[in-house]
Parts: sequence; structure tokens; C-alpha cells
Amino acid sequence: MDCDRPVKNVVLAVTGASGACYAQRFMERAAALPGIALHLVLTDTAREIWRHELGCEPPVGLDNRRFDAPFCSGSAAADVMVVLPCSMGMLARIAAGTADDAIARMADVQLKERRPLIIVPRETPISLIHLRNMTALTEAGAVIAPAAPGFYTRPADLETLVDGFVSRLLQVAGLAPLDDAYRWKP
Ligand SMILES: Cc1cc2nc3c(=O)[nH]c(=O)nc-3n(C[C@H](O)[C@H](O)[C@H](O)COP(=O)(O)O)c2cc1C
Repeated sequence: MDCDRPVKNVVLAVTGASGACYAQRFMERAAALPGIALHLVLTDTAREIWRHELGCEPPVGLDNRRFDAPFCSGSAAADVMVVLPCSMGMLARIAAGTADDAIARMADVQLKERRPLIIVPRETPISLIHLRNMTALTEAGAVIAPAAPGFYTRPADLETLVDGFVSRLLQVAGLAPLDDAYRWKP
């Protein structure tokens, strides 16, 4: 994806997998980038996990039960959508095209409009069903970017580890060049 293209509308969809810290950091980093309007949407389970893992209230965001958000329509698709973290349940629903809540519908729109969709699954181990769903999504044009932070930068603490992975995701999403601190140097 092209880092030079001015990206305007970025959808950050947070679903019920472990890893709310990634979503929180992505939100902070993306919101601080110039020329970006960040639109947040969380599932009910994502809200529960956010409270449990981060010990604070999740941000409000768009209502996942309503389909009147602009990005639910092909005529107003997002420039980039990132599902972070993505539960295996949501992964399956996007792969099956159920479009039964706002997140699943927005992802469906991104795929049908051939717009960037970055999916960050978090589960271990993964089954053949998960793998097949990831294959189907890759074939449909999504990028599967597993929540797998690198350790080659020798992160001193959890925050640095999370930040490193978020930097990589921002690069994959075409929103920011990769910070030199996170680039592999042999
Ligand atoms: C504390 C907690 C952690 C969970 N972690 C994961 C996970 O890492 N990966 C996953 O696929 N599902 C995980 N689940 C299960 C999903 O939340 C569940 O399948 C849910 O239906 C997903 O719904 P959603 O995608 O609409 O948020 C977790 C559930 C809880 C309560």
C-alpha cells in the first residue's frame, strides 16, 4: 500500500479477542497522524475484554448494531479498515459475508469495493477452520497481519513491544512509514 496517498477515513474495528492494548495504542497513534479521521467501532465482547485487560472504560465509538454509519455503504467506503484484534468468530463472519453487524458489514464493503482491509487475528493454536477462513479472506483481498510482535528490537517493556507492533501495522495499513526504531538492522 502507498504511504504517500492521503488517507482520510480510517475505521478501527475492535472485536472480542485478547489484545485490547494494541487497539488502544493504534487509536492513539492513528489519531495523532495528520489528515486522518479515525472512526472506532467495538463489539460488546470487545468492550468487556477492554475493561478486563486495560482496567478502564472503552471509548464510545460507532454503534455496532446500526448500519447507518457511512462505511456500511459501498458508496462511502472507508479508505482503510483495520480489525484489531480480530476474534475467530468475527473472522469467520467476515469470511462468510454475513454482514450481520456494522463491523462485518463494513468489512464486507471493503472487500466488495476492493478497499484495504487489514485483519489482525489473535488465537492459538489455530484450527483448519481458522486457516481456511484466513485463506478465503486473503483470496478476497484482505491482508492477514497476525498479532505477532517482533522481539529483534529487544523491547525493554510491554509498552515498547505493543508500540513496535502498532508501528508495523500503521505501515501495513499505508498510514505511516515504519519508524527506524522498529526496522530490522542486522
Ligand atoms: C476474556 C476473553 C478473551 C477472549 N480471547 C479470544 C481470543 O484471543 N481470540 C478469539 O478468537 N476469541 C476470544 N474470545 C472469544 C470471543 O470473544 C467470542 O468468540 C465472541 O463471540 C467474539 O465475538 P465478537 O467477535 O463479536 O467480539 C475471548 C473471550 C473472552 C471473554
